[in-house]
This record gives sequence, C-alpha cells and structure tokens, in this order.
Amino acid sequence: MAFEIRPLTSSGFGAELIGLDPTLALDEPTFQAVQQAWFDHSILVFRGLDMTPEQHIAFTRRLGPLHIMVPLQYNLDGYPEIFVVGNAEEGGKAVGMRRAGMGFHSDGEDKAIPNAGSFLYGVIVPPEGGDTIFADMYAAWNALPEATRAKLSGRRARFSRVELHHVHYPHLPALTEQQKLDRPDVWHPIARKHPRSGRTALYIGRWAVEIEGMPAEEGKPLIETLCAHAQKPEFLYRHRWQPGDGVLWDNRCTQHCATPFDEERYTRRMHRTTLEGEVPLLASAAAVPQGVSV
Ligand code: SIN
Repeated sequence: MAFEIRPLTSSGFGAELIGLDPTLALDEPTFQAVQQAWFDHSILVFRGLDMTPEQHIAFTRRLGPLHIMVPLQYNLDGYPEIFVVGNAEEGGKAVGMRRAGMGFHSDGEDKAIPNAGSFLYGVIVPPEGGDTIFADMYAAWNALPEATRAKLSGRRARFSRVELHHVHYPHLPALTEQQKLDRPDVWHPIARKHPRSGRTALYIGRWAVEIEGMPAEEGKPLIETLCAHAQKPEFLYRHRWQPGDGVLWDNRCTQHCATPFDEERYTRRMHRTTLEGEVPLLASAAAVPQGVSV
C-alpha cells in the first residue's frame, strides 16, 4: 500500500503517515516501510485510526515483544498489553492512571531494561489541553558544546525511582518497601547509541540523580542543565490530539511530556502499548554530531 511520509518539523523530527489502513493491518512491505520511517523520524503520527484493542496490540507486536505495565490495575480489562492513561471512568470507577507522564522522560528510563518504544492511541481527547510534547534527543546531543560531549562520553547517569517518586508522583501513595526493592536504582550511558539507526542520543531524564565519577555539587547541576537543554524549543514537537490519533515514539532517542487539561470538564482516555527494550548501548567516545566533519 502506497502512503505518504510528511515530516512534522523542518529538522525531520517526527512525521505524519498519510494513506494507511485505519486498523493498521499492513502487508509486510508496507509494515517494513513504516518501521523504517520510525527509525528515520523517531516519532510517527497516524490520524483517523479506528483500531480495536486487538488491532492496536497486533500492530505494535510486529515492532517487537510487548511489555506489560505494572501495577496491573491501569491495564485494560482483558488486554493487559494496553495501559490506560487519563481520567476516564466506567461505573464510577477510574479505568486509567491519571496525570501519567507529566515531566519530560522516556518510558522505563528508571529500569535496567528501558522500553524501546510506545504507541499511544487517543480514544477520547479533550477539545483543549492534554497535548503531548516530544523532544528530539539526537538533536539535543548534537547541539551540546563539544566540551560537554567530551565530559559526558563514556559516563553513565544513575536513575532513581526510590529517590524521586514523591517528587514526580506527589498525588500517588509512597512506594512500599517491596516496590522499592522491585525498582532498584540503575545506571545508563548518557551518550546512548541507537541499536537500529546507529546514531547517538542524549539519554537523560527526570529520574536521573547522579553522574558517574562526578561529585554531587557538579553532577546535579549538570543533570539540570542537560534536562533544560533537551527542552529547548528547537528540539520539540507538540502533538495536539484529535480523536483517532496514534503516536508511535522511540524511547531510545526521544523524551516526551504530558500536559494538563481541565479534568473537571473534560475526559481524556488514551490507550498505550509499550515495547520491551534492550540494555542501553554506550556510544563510542568518538561520537560526533551527524553532519559535522572531523
Ligand atoms: C505517557 O507518558 O505515556 C503519557 C503521555 C500522555 O498521556 O500524553
């Protein structure tokens, strides 16, 4: 099936795919072309989708094994592969996780094996607010001053859910001792090599608390500087949701951030499938920005 790839930004970060079957039941050559577009643009936007949970799961599964989110309580009844986000209720009971994903992050960055990608489907979206903002972490890495890249190359950051859970999820109960044991701190390379594109991305996020080999008084402000750098307008794409939109993002080279909406007036119900990932690869110390000659 022929389809059009329309870039969403002048840098080529993000692309809308036009002309695909709304159920995403794709023949193999079309699927391969979609997957390649994902590696090329990091974020894919699909409009006017009309997918059952089975079709949502079936399409995502072609990209890799699926991850089941825990705690299980936010997963769609009968479809544990679908994590429900938003304030929708059924029979007076919340069906999804409210206020998930506020603050720039990539999914699973605080786990030993972070998630490779995620596919969010807008089932019910508010007429205003509730946008999702995406950041291009290849561009963020490439735009860092050379001295900063040299300082970070070969180093890892420590990500800690235990230290920051109360900061990012003040509206949720504190972690239990068992949950703390289940989510130990992890170290990930800050210059991360994408296993499919071979490109280097800045890998930092809201759970990062320490940089390897740096005292706290140097590492913490550097993490703040890197996070602020990654959120510069030139690296961002803001998705304004319409019902039937789907956005597939690559957690290995992007960050994203949910934004608020009026929860008293509007309902937002999003269904997310999440891909298992791999241990993040350290980019070689010689990683230089694409397009820069040495
Ligand atoms: C997420 O972080 O997966 C949720 C993003 C959103 O709801 O906009």
